[in-house]
Amino acid sequence: LITPVLLCGGSGTRLWPLSRKSYPKQFVPLVGEETLFQASARRLSGKTGDLSFAAPVVLTNSDFRFIVVEQLQAIGIDPGTIIIEPEGRNTAPAVLAAALCAYHEDKDAVLLIAPSDHVVPDAAAFQAAVARGLDAVAQGQLVTFGIMPTHAETAYGYLELANTPDENGSPVPLEQFVEKPDLPRATEMLAAGTFKWNAGIFLFRASEIIAAFKTHAPELIEPVTAAVETATADLGFLRLNPEPWGQAEDISIDYAVMEKATNLSVVPFDAAWSDLGGWDAVWRESEPDAQGVVTSGGATAIDCHNTLLRSDSDQLEVVGIGLDNIIAVAMNDAVLVADTSRAQDVKKAVSALKEKG
Ligand code: GDD
Ligand code: MG
Repeated sequence: LITPVLLCGGSGTRLWPLSRKSYPKQFVPLVGEETLFQASARRLSGKTGDLSFAAPVVLTNSDFRFIVVEQLQAIGIDPGTIIIEPEGRNTAPAVLAAALCAYHEDKDAVLLIAPSDHVVPDAAAFQAAVARGLDAVAQGQLVTFGIMPTHAETAYGYLELANTPDENGSPVPLEQFVEKPDLPRATEMLAAGTFKWNAGIFLFRASEIIAAFKTHAPELIEPVTAAVETATADLGFLRLNPEPWGQAEDISIDYAVMEKATNLSVVPFDAAWSDLGGWDAVWRESEPDAQGVVTSGGATAIDCHNTLLRSDSDQLEVVGIGLDNIIAVAMNDAVLVADTSRAQDVKKAVSALKEKG
């Protein structure tokens, strides 16, 4: 039995205006009908072959707790434990809190840590990859999932394989884990051909990750344990104690543990995966037509090429004529129009708007 742990804390500023602080990208149907959060929860539910998933543990903040329950119920998934973080302290404290809760319930608990904002179209392929990792987990490994890199991305972690994977995609021990390299380093690793991207998905026994925290990030143990042990149960939500929680260092699991641990394995994952890091990625993942056009919400494209036209407004009609490489997203209170090549600069718009107040 695997307990999925869904991380639901990010705010996704590169997908403004759809993704807002008050309603981040994982809760919006960006690609397909379901929200990314719902698709993630569904991918990690039920029983298939050797795999069987328990009800999910969801880590989120107070503002999103009812959205989480609603969206799970809407797809018929029983909300398991919903842990509320009084403030975002990044993924290391969040994962440790989930592991401590799970271990308290079951000393042999196996956790699958998953972001809730990725697109993994082939759920069956993903579940098969998880199944391939289980033997390594039983041997006390911390299992990561490796994506075939396509460019020298600096926003990802890199996994160096100790040897070439077999054709079954069995787990391979990790030589090293390099989180978010600079561009020269990323370029080197891409050229070396022995690295994969870290998908940001992890599989391990709760006991093993707790042990890894004790070794590599011992300063997190006390505040997070205290926050969990003095948490308050509130209408089905487990609210971590804000006082010790606020003492926990704000650090990701990649830096706190993964870069340092020596018992890492990687399961190669060759099916499609995207972390939807911007509107260009949404366009790519939305199956553009022969002209490269994606429209949604009734937007109309006339003679457009390589363009995303999207209306999430019930008041605005969106029409594009003769556009090339344009992203246009309309909502009732905001409209974004950008050159596709500038998709990553959308986060600058968010900062600029914040300054304007
Ligand atoms: N509950 C909770 N609390 N979730 C959080 C928090 C938090 O404080 N901070 C981040 N998350 C969630 C995000 O919403 C996302 O789903 C996931 O945890 C990963 O956090 P990101 O902030 O998106 O990390 P990243 O994309 O910079 O890097 C990670 O993912 C890459 C792949 O997408 C790393 O694991 C990289 O190594 C990896 O390549
Ligand atoms: Mg991310």
